[in-house]
Amino acid sequence: MFSHLHSSAWAITVLLFIIAFFLIKGGKAKAGKILHMILRLFFVIMLVSGIYLLFALWGFAAMYAVKGLLAIALIGLMEVILTRTKKGTLNNAGVLWGAFIIILIIVPLMGFRVISF
Ligand code: HEM
Repeated sequence: MFSHLHSSAWAITVLLFIIAFFLIKGGKAKAGKILHMILRLFFVIMLVSGIYLLFALWGFAAMYAVKGLLAIALIGLMEVILTRTKKGTLNNAGVLWGAFIIILIIVPLMGFRVISF
C-alpha cells in the first residue's frame, strides 16, 4: 500500500509544486497558498511512505538511504523556492532551480533503479 502511495504521489507532488509556483508568480496569492498547503500534505505523504519503504522493504539499503536524503533536499528546495517567490526574495533563483532540476532527475532515476549501487 505504501509502495503504491509513493509511486502515485510523487508525480502529483512535482505537478502541484509547478502549478503553485506559477500561481504565486502570477500574483494569484490565494490560489497559490491553497495549492502550497496541499503540496505540504504531499510532502508528508512522500516522507512517511518513503521512510516506511526504506525500512520495511529495503532494510535501510544504502542506495535508498541516499535517495531519501536527496528527496528530502528536493522537498526543502521546493519549499524554499515557493516561500521566497511569495516574499519576493528569490535572489539566487538560478542556483536553486538548477539544484532542483538536477536532483529531480536523479531521485526518480534512483527510485526506478536506473541509477543503482
Ligand atoms: C519529493 C520527494 C520524492 C520523490 C519525487 C520520490 C520519487 C520516487 C520514485 C519515482 C520512486 C519509484 C517509484 C516506483 O517504483 O513506482 C521512488 C521509490 C522509492 N522512494 Fe521515493 N521519492 C521521494 C521521497 C522519498 C523519501 C523522503 C524517501 C525515504 C526517506 C524515499 C524512499 C524511496 C524508496 C525506499 C523507494 C523504493 C520503493 C520500491 O520500489 O520498493 N522517497 N521514489
